[in-house]
Amino acid sequence: MDSIVVTGGSTLKGRIAIAGAKNACLTLMPATLLSEEPLTLTNAPRLSDIQTMTTLLESLGAEVSGMAGGQVLALSSHGLTSTRADYEIVRKMRASNLVLGPLLAREGQAVVSLPGGCAIGARPMDIHITALEALGAEIELKDGYLHAVARGGLKGARVPLRFASVGATENVLMAATLAKGTTVIENAAREPEIVDLARCLRKMGAQIEGEGTSTITVQGVDRLHGATHPVVTDRIELGTYMLAPVFTGGEVECLGGRMELVAAFAERLDAAGIEVTETEAGLKVRRRGDRPRAVDVETAPFPGFPTDLQAQMMAMLCLAEGVSTLEERIFENRFMHAPELMRMGARIEVTGGTARVTGVERLKGAPVMATDLRASVSLILAGLAAEGETRVNRVYHLDRGYERVEEKLRGVGARIERVQAA
Ligand code: UD1
Repeated sequence: MDSIVVTGGSTLKGRIAIAGAKNACLTLMPATLLSEEPLTLTNAPRLSDIQTMTTLLESLGAEVSGMAGGQVLALSSHGLTSTRADYEIVRKMRASNLVLGPLLAREGQAVVSLPGGCAIGARPMDIHITALEALGAEIELKDGYLHAVARGGLKGARVPLRFASVGATENVLMAATLAKGTTVIENAAREPEIVDLARCLRKMGAQIEGEGTSTITVQGVDRLHGATHPVVTDRIELGTYMLAPVFTGGEVECLGGRMELVAAFAERLDAAGIEVTETEAGLKVRRRGDRPRAVDVETAPFPGFPTDLQAQMMAMLCLAEGVSTLEERIFENRFMHAPELMRMGARIEVTGGTARVTGVERLKGAPVMATDLRASVSLILAGLAAEGETRVNRVYHLDRGYERVEEKLRGVGARIERVQAA
């Protein structure tokens, strides 16, 4: 299994190109199931999660090509052969559950294994189920699989979500495009990935209003057609690389970055004494003083501070001047990076969903273990600042969500390499 070895201490300077969003691509790809005509996605990231979604769609009879060259994914669901998403694929990635809504809408049935993915909490499916039931689906749990049928097709309805779940909003939004009549999703998630999905669905002929607000209205249509759509910039990759010069000094410009994608995050950086400026090509980041200042952070659904940047922010706060409090409000078990950061000399106390971080002047390199996708990259960031060598083991999590991380960081002057573990 590969490891990433980082030798800390280099000042970073230069530009990093930010890829298309993993989480947007993972919901745009299953949208192909809604139409017999081809869907082409440009600006797709090259990640193992995208490969997993490709395998899943192919197992349903869809055709996916273009992975080798990257960036362009040509998808076609002309002849579907199956409506079953198997455990062997779904266990690798929770986003596999995003085939449920489209399959129900197009085929009137779906059998989808309960998901796996990062071990960051219970992550149940109740909101998805209640939402699709509101559209007339009957859903039963048998042998670890959700068995869903829509006898007589899905029907538009009022769909209030008990929590603004990203995945549930995406599933019900896709399903509603082909339902009979009007669907109103209340307390919908407002993430940029949902806005991107709605825009793509609209190009395919769907009638949708209100994406990016808490109420999304969908007027069902009989069929959707083909489209070409560029995947929105990955705001989590963007936020991650925005932090790189904060750890090391220097200045990094993140190409393709836009402030509205990371406003809440950039506001916290500003409070910590980090300068973020908009340029023509993206966002440029520079640390103002020698060390960042402590700040308090609370994760929340968009437009709040993203849970997917919490681990990276914690790594930064480990080196900040003063005491910071981090509250994780989205997932109940998302501080697994804390003990690993502590192996590097960080001072963190975790109590339930709250972490209290007392900044130290320096971290020391150590062997550490990647426990989930965002945790892994937080350890790499910490390694950039640490004295000596940090070896991040079990990096397969990293490859799910960051394309060519070592190349991108090397490109701005980091000392980082991938090694085959003995
Ligand atoms: C998506 C993102 C993930 C991000 C998360 C929150 C993708 C592929 N993944 O995940 O990177 O961390 O949003 O921004 O886009 N919940 C329930 N019942 C449900 C569904 C969710 O209780 O039916 C809970 C979850 O356990 C979790 C919270 O709601 O505590 C947020 O989950 P959700 O917004 O659904 O996240 P995902 O769509 O899984």
